[in-house]
Amino acid sequence: MAFHLYELSSRLLGDTVGKMNDNLTSVVLAASVITLTLGYISKLLLKQSSDDGSDLKYPPYIPSSIPFLGHAIAFGKSPIEFLEQAYEKYGPVFSFTMVGSTFTYLLGSDAATLMFNSKNEDLNAEDVYSRLTTPVFGKGVAYDVPNPIFLEQKKMLKTGLNIAHFKEHVKIIEAETVEYFQRWGDSGEKNLFEALSELIILTASSCLHGKEIRSMLNERVAQLYADLDGGFSHAAWLLPGWLPLPSFRKRDRAHREIKNIFFKVIQKRRQSAEKEDDILQTLIDATYKDGRPLNDDEISGMLIGLLLAGQHTSSTTSAWLGFFLAKDKALQERCYAEQRAVCGEGMQPDFDQLKDLSLLERCLKETLRLRPPIMTMMRMARSPQTAAGYTIPVGHQVCVSPTVNHRLQDTWVERMEFSPDRYLNDNPAAGEKFAYVPFGAGRHRCIGENFAYVQIKTIWSTLLRMYHFDLVDGYFPTINYTTMIHTPHNPVIRYKRRKQ
Ligand code: HEM
Repeated sequence: MAFHLYELSSRLLGDTVGKMNDNLTSVVLAASVITLTLGYISKLLLKQSSDDGSDLKYPPYIPSSIPFLGHAIAFGKSPIEFLEQAYEKYGPVFSFTMVGSTFTYLLGSDAATLMFNSKNEDLNAEDVYSRLTTPVFGKGVAYDVPNPIFLEQKKMLKTGLNIAHFKEHVKIIEAETVEYFQRWGDSGEKNLFEALSELIILTASSCLHGKEIRSMLNERVAQLYADLDGGFSHAAWLLPGWLPLPSFRKRDRAHREIKNIFFKVIQKRRQSAEKEDDILQTLIDATYKDGRPLNDDEISGMLIGLLLAGQHTSSTTSAWLGFFLAKDKALQERCYAEQRAVCGEGMQPDFDQLKDLSLLERCLKETLRLRPPIMTMMRMARSPQTAAGYTIPVGHQVCVSPTVNHRLQDTWVERMEFSPDRYLNDNPAAGEKFAYVPFGAGRHRCIGENFAYVQIKTIWSTLLRMYHFDLVDGYFPTINYTTMIHTPHNPVIRYKRRKQ
């Protein structure tokens, strides 16, 4: 559910214009850029006058000679390197400008405490996420509603993400994985990330939406999801939502059509005498504190949110895990041996056995350390905030980066090594509450962590039993920083069926 600001990088204008090639769009875009620039200039003027005479200490500001764009190009090219260098030079709290906005990063566990302990009224999530999420999820849910309501909705979803349901999910995910990978045959080289993305739409739809909606998931519906997902774009972030852009229209049409599909299923469920035992039913039966049940629109919005929140995060993580295992064949064999030891000859882990696959679990944990899919969490400062003795002014976009926290030299031994056994020893980051935060923390913490673990561990248990994996000619994917979530570049893997 969190989104990334490195989108607003050097690629921003070229990429957006490139995608929107009709004249009207270009004119509107140009007008919007001019408006944003004017807004930026007036903000600068305002800032200069209000800075005068104040004895408050603001965070160190990284200067840039490029007006408006600021550091967008350097950040867009290599965000982690940019932040690490800034940390070295300026310390844990610093500010810089990108595309007319000022971003203040809180790096390391101590500085991050401000964000994770903050109230939503002070460091606000809706202000930064809502313009992207509301057109995709719809009104009445997530960042479109006051945070206390969203917290109630999260609680309802959490009720559905329970152990009894997970026990069923393990079976469903295993069956979907076996069926999906039949198309891979006995050996070859294939795009692992693409395959896992397709598989995870299927597994997530089965587990989170229920069998009726899963049974309707054909190519046309998959395209609708893709169009809806296309709503998480640079253009949606930057430009007013009422603009008649083709990608906005596609997103809005997909939203309506998907909701219509969901409405029919929900109606049928409501009329049915028999009750299913799944997440959809949990939502149909749920009520707010004041006793009001969720309406169909809210349920549908929450179903969309569930699917999209887990889609890119889980597929990217699963793909990186695959490449880490392919790179270290000895570790891969240890994971396979663990499957045999825990699950026996039949080797189909159930939910309880899944929990005992501790090496696989540590591999996943380490993947999330080195490749956390959400690279930055953001909030808007609605009131002045204090961190490390600095005052962060109203209007700054305050950010925490799991990726940087997970590899800080002061915290992690052999920080760039993929070393799942590091968690067997005393946790090096034990004293630092927010040194490891792939799922965030505080009031906006992820509710999907347990489901994600169940899903990814089941998929990889199944795949480890099917195949040996290898890098193709020793190539370990580099990181693609241009995607919303840091995906692997050219993610092709070599595989060969295991002899049982
Ligand atoms: C590997 C998988 C996943 C990762 C790494 C991940 C990561 C995160 C992070 C970092 C946040 C905090 C965002 C912020 O503070 O701005 C978050 C929030 C959230 N995630 Fe996940 N997530 C994953 C999977 C899922 C899944 C599968 C679901 C749903 C089933 C889900 C639902 C949510 C929800 C509802 C929030 C709450 C947002 C809020 O309160 O503002 N996530 N996730």
